[in-house]
Amino acid sequence: MKQISVNNLLGVKYLSRDDINLIFETADSFKEIINRKIKKVPTLRDITIANLFFENSTRTKLSFELAEKRLSADIINFSSTGSSISKGETLIDTVNNILAMKVDIIIIRHPSPGAAEFLSRNTNSCVINAGDGTHEHPTQGLLDTYSINEKLGTVDNKRILILGDILHSRVALSNIFALKILGAKIKVCGPKSLIPKFINNLEVKYEPILENGLAWCDAVNILRVQSERMNETYFPSLREYHNLYGIKLSSVKKLRKEILILHPGPVNRGVEITSEVLDNNKTIVLDQVENGVAIRMAILYLLASKTKGIIKSN
Ligand code: CP
Repeated sequence: MKQISVNNLLGVKYLSRDDINLIFETADSFKEIINRKIKKVPTLRDITIANLFFENSTRTKLSFELAEKRLSADIINFSSTGSSISKGETLIDTVNNILAMKVDIIIIRHPSPGAAEFLSRNTNSCVINAGDGTHEHPTQGLLDTYSINEKLGTVDNKRILILGDILHSRVALSNIFALKILGAKIKVCGPKSLIPKFINNLEVKYEPILENGLAWCDAVNILRVQSERMNETYFPSLREYHNLYGIKLSSVKKLRKEILILHPGPVNRGVEITSEVLDNNKTIVLDQVENGVAIRMAILYLLASKTKGIIKSN
């Protein structure tokens, strides 16, 4: 049986091409299962998973929880509000107390970049990063890339435009790593002030003009303007941002080709994309959400197989 090379999922940058292909193959079989009438398999029935969310989430939290339930794992949910963190307990102490309850896998979302890696170094647990500050969001990067692969038949040599607030986005980095490993050509587009300086080191080109980027690409992944992470002004107004970098029906219709339009969510309607584009089946946003459950089931299964020795029985 093929095994994933890592013991934790801390970032896509630690995965190999074989790892990503294995995750996608495994997700294919789980996607088939979650579309059956009976969607549940006993694969992780001896595994206990703690979902630790120190930052708000809708998609990732529910998607992990559903993936765990579909695999018959036992789960506990923790959110920092209402916990003993407010009494001064440290992250490591919190997690070691949770592990003492015989928990096997920790899923963590945290506002600090490196929080998942910090936990994996300082506790004896299998850790999955569900988004750490502006660093990485590996399951989102994998599910976006899986969705592109599913719709275009391959990622190799495809032209992918990542549009918007790259500077504050953990999704951008995880997408770039996954797409590059699978051989895509990548450009980023958005206001120069929202493009990190290190982008050149990743061999990703910057396209300042949206029209040119859309004409070039096979797929565009639109990232949210993360106002909550901005301590200063990066562009004059949201209206100006929308005028220059918002995806509108007119900009899509002007193209003499079909392109895939992705958005990891949550969406700022009328800022990075119009309701007209969103509500007229022009995007694959909800396919991404469906694929997210299959990708997370695959990752849970592969990591549990590697670190806990479970046997597949679906
Ligand atoms: N895409 C994503 O991470 O969404 P949530 O913040 O709702 O989990």
